[in-house]
Amino acid sequence: MRKMAQFKLDGVAIVVGAAGGIGREVAFTFAEAGVKGMLLADVNAEASAEVAEQAKSLASNPAYTYLSTRVDATDVTSVDEMVDLAVKTFGRIDYCINAFGVDVAEYVPPQQTTLEDYDRVLGINTKGPFLITRAVGRVMLSQEPAQADFGRLGLRDIGRGSIVNVSSAMALVAVPAKAPYTTSKHAVTGVTKAAGIRVNQVCPTWVRTPMFEEECRRIPETPEALNKLSPIKRPIEPDEVAAACLLVGPAIG
Ligand SMILES: NC(=O)c1ccc[n+]([C@@H]2O[C@H](COP(=O)([O-])OP(=O)(O)OC[C@H]3O[C@@H](n4cnc5c(N)ncnc54)[C@H](O)[C@@H]3O)[C@@H](O)[C@H]2O)c1
Repeated sequence: MRKMAQFKLDGVAIVVGAAGGIGREVAFTFAEAGVKGMLLADVNAEASAEVAEQAKSLASNPAYTYLSTRVDATDVTSVDEMVDLAVKTFGRIDYCINAFGVDVAEYVPPQQTTLEDYDRVLGINTKGPFLITRAVGRVMLSQEPAQADFGRLGLRDIGRGSIVNVSSAMALVAVPAKAPYTTSKHAVTGVTKAAGIRVNQVCPTWVRTPMFEEECRRIPETPEALNKLSPIKRPIEPDEVAAACLLVGPAIG
């Protein structure tokens, strides 16, 4: 059995993008770490429900309960309904991991980028985390602080809750062939910093998920570039990003 962290979670988590390469591993990792309740959400409801079933078999908390729902992160009504569902079901929200997102439709210079694609990518990658942070933040600010069990280190206060945005290395650097994606991820830093509650973001480079496989299909030189630019010379595995989310979620940062 893999040992992810020195602490155990027993709170309630929402994972948005649970059907995706990274979100799925976040759901598994949080279940293994001991959350008591989890809401798994994705625009792809069917795949999210499958991940929910698999996460159930990994849950280490005997009191674990879960549900899965469809959410469109760009739609305020859909987001607010998801958050209401979590509160109605579990009574509170301790962790929210925004692990959804999309890439640009085609890799072209900014001068050839369509406004349609710009609006689509920013709508999902930037407005989505904003709407969720806004709705979840209202809940977190209204609830009592919680504690987590840090094993041999004892109980620690972890505050009223925290959000993790899965952003990208493109929050820090730019790829002109992906102007909308680069812009969207730089803006997630703004959403994160201006949240008014504790929000962290993780900024991975290439992660071995369907999004990465698609990039390799579109740009066959990707593995070669990765080999030159990445110190570990391989894509990051989705569970490694999930481990980072687990680390920053409960108490750090
Ligand atoms: N894969 C990489 O190389 C990589 C690198 C850095 C950052 N990221 C970021 O990690 C996050 C997750 O990416 P991934 O690699 O797991 O991609 P993925 O394509 O495997 O999964 C993305 C998930 O987001 C969901 N989604 C899309 N639009 C949505 C919406 N409107 N509402 C709710 N859910 C929606 C999809 O249904 C899918 O399940 C993204 O924000 C991405 O930008 C990925």
